[in-house]
Amino acid sequence: MKVLAIESSCDETAAAVVEDGRVALSSIVSSQVDLHAKYGGVVPEVASRQHLLKIVPVIREALEAANCTLDDIDAVAGTRGPGLAGSLLVGYNAARAIAFGRGLPFIGINHLEGHIYANWLVEGPEPEFPALCLVVSGGHTDLVFMRGHGQYERIGGTRDDAAGEAFDKAGRLLGLPFPGGPHIAKAALEGGPSSLELPRAWLHGTFDFSFSGLKTAVLHTVREGRYPVPEVAWEFQESVVDVLAGKTSRLARELGARNVLVAGGVAANARLREELQRRCPVPVRIPPPKFCTDNAAMIGAVAAFRLELGERTPPEADIFTTNDWAAV
Ligand code: KG4
Ligand code: ZN
Repeated sequence: MKVLAIESSCDETAAAVVEDGRVALSSIVSSQVDLHAKYGGVVPEVASRQHLLKIVPVIREALEAANCTLDDIDAVAGTRGPGLAGSLLVGYNAARAIAFGRGLPFIGINHLEGHIYANWLVEGPEPEFPALCLVVSGGHTDLVFMRGHGQYERIGGTRDDAAGEAFDKAGRLLGLPFPGGPHIAKAALEGGPSSLELPRAWLHGTFDFSFSGLKTAVLHTVREGRYPVPEVAWEFQESVVDVLAGKTSRLARELGARNVLVAGGVAANARLREELQRRCPVPVRIPPPKFCTDNAAMIGAVAAFRLELGERTPPEADIFTTNDWAAV
């Protein structure tokens, strides 16, 4: 079964053709990052306008790269939420329109579930249940227990900033380009341990996270001006990675998870990947970086297993902007 999947929840216009939920025949991502960089963050109006310009060429390119036409497609999937309303509407409506026009099954997909299912696009043995998922993106930081396909229980998550958001805000304070995550990771390569100690919010007795205190500490450190950027970047990254890997490994042990599945843009972070692998008591699966950050192949991966169960999204179903794991 070949699914044409479309994703436009934030600032990437993406389309992919995915076979049987496991193989990305193509995955095209048109990033708007340069357009938003000068504003230091994503500007929703700019994003939706850009999606409108890119959506048709990106879909065409995804079909061509997969060596197919719409005649070869068996179903269409589109990201339904969460995300920016104006952005979601473009890709979701394009997906609905193609499905309607071609008389194909249509399914709307949760973006965060997509991030988790990027782990099914990796060659090798399938992830095993029960699995503990660490979802770390620009907008979300959640620890979710997954007993089986499509079954989610949120155990903990951030009480303030998402991990990616913390990277982006710290990057801005350090004068690094947007988005901060990859630039902090790069700057940290030139740093190392120093006398600088940034706080870790352990929130003992919970599996929650908090990154706002860390952000304030970065602000004070930058104002003091005693430490060069690479050292602050290094210690900031260590602080985030320490708490994420520490809590994830402990929870995996407590729940008896058979796998840890890591998902979302921050999962592209090499230090986080390394520490999770080192500390977790069970195999840790992390998609390759191109499937960690926003893409449409992950949406096609979820679509396949849901379509197989007979699930379809009715044409009148609208987008949604906030996430509820209990409703996924
Ligand atoms: O999942 P994603 O592509 O979009 C959302 O759904 O939010 O995640 C984007 C986030 C941004 O905050 C970005 O700074 C972060 O992922 N990110 C990273 C790295 N690459 C992307 N954070 C840390 N290290 C990286 N290498
Ligand atoms: Zn995302």
